[in-house]
Amino acid sequence: MTTRRHLLTRSAAIVGAASTGLLLPEIARAQGTKVRVGLMLPYTGTFAQLGVAIENGFRMALAEQGGKLGGREVEFFKVDDESDPSKGVENATKLVQRDKVDVLVGTVHSGVQMGIHKVARESGVLSLIPNAGVHAATRALCAPNVFRTSFSNSQPTRALGKVMVDKGHKNAVWITWKYAAGDEALEGFKEGFLAAGGTIVKEMSLPFPNVEFQAFLTEIASLKPDAVACFWAGGGAAKFIKDYAAAGLKDKIPLYGSGFLTEGVLDAAGPAAEGIITTMHYSDSLDTARNKAFRLAYAKSFKAQPDVYAVQGYDTGLLLVQGANAVKGDLANKAALYAAMEGARIDSPRGMWTMSKAHNPVQDIYIRKVENKENKVIGVAAKALADSGAGCKMG
Ligand code: PHB
Repeated sequence: MTTRRHLLTRSAAIVGAASTGLLLPEIARAQGTKVRVGLMLPYTGTFAQLGVAIENGFRMALAEQGGKLGGREVEFFKVDDESDPSKGVENATKLVQRDKVDVLVGTVHSGVQMGIHKVARESGVLSLIPNAGVHAATRALCAPNVFRTSFSNSQPTRALGKVMVDKGHKNAVWITWKYAAGDEALEGFKEGFLAAGGTIVKEMSLPFPNVEFQAFLTEIASLKPDAVACFWAGGGAAKFIKDYAAAGLKDKIPLYGSGFLTEGVLDAAGPAAEGIITTMHYSDSLDTARNKAFRLAYAKSFKAQPDVYAVQGYDTGLLLVQGANAVKGDLANKAALYAAMEGARIDSPRGMWTMSKAHNPVQDIYIRKVENKENKVIGVAAKALADSGAGCKMG
């Protein structure tokens, strides 16, 4: 009897809603429930700080919308991916199958991203990449439901080589971690440096996340290149900068890098970081109202200075907000959701950027120099730089 009455009431409500033309029943249901957002980020290990900054930025963009996505409340599900590629598929599967997330935000490490990517391609769940630059995600394995808001691994270093040659450095040692992010950063560096007339004397690498740099620094001292270029990030970056100075190399052989080298580490690295020149799609000192307002609001909310990772997290939120608003919270309307995200113009603290056909940012790359614990802009290395998206076929 109760069941029957319940059914009658429910169908009467549906007929009522439909006849007034207000809402279709499915949309009414969808909008009544919370959007389930999965955060798969590193909260431990050498990239722990990066994960926190990304989450802070993401939450800040949602907070600007009263905490809502297309009018719906949001519920978060979190996994610490530990930057461990061997657990990537398992962790992403937990969020998709157990927690039934509508959108998966993650991650930092390119190897872990490949695990997320496999799950995203197989399940069709919306996947937003707030950092990891692994080429495959927006090249040969690109997918309609996968969008990156950060960079491709070769984007920040592509413009670095010319900057170095312009400063008179004709030969250089390259050093990094041996995994996709390091290998692909080298690919970008090599292209630009060789084209500008530079020579790479030696390519050096350590397995991720090792930080035993001493033997390499000794070898660099004996090779005496004009300069050193590198990719490091997080805790490893802070240690490399300090070890490089402690080995007596700082004033003899200038150190350059993709900008991650000096992101979020300037307090930890102290004077050892002063003067380092890098290329990157963001700079603390960008003199725009947008950047200044963002930095002020972030510092107020989180009692910390934002870095490029915070900006990427924030932009991931901005992109999702644009998509969700376009479909009024009905994230199941995938065609319209993806179309809105593909056409999005993101008014970011880094400057305005758009989405390439392969779903990777088209963005300006700045030249920065560390001065008084700040990444100061000293020039623009590339305007509206797009990744090649080589091999990407959507659909
Ligand atoms: C990556 O693994 O893709 C990666 C990690 C940290 C960075 C940049 C790229 O800062």
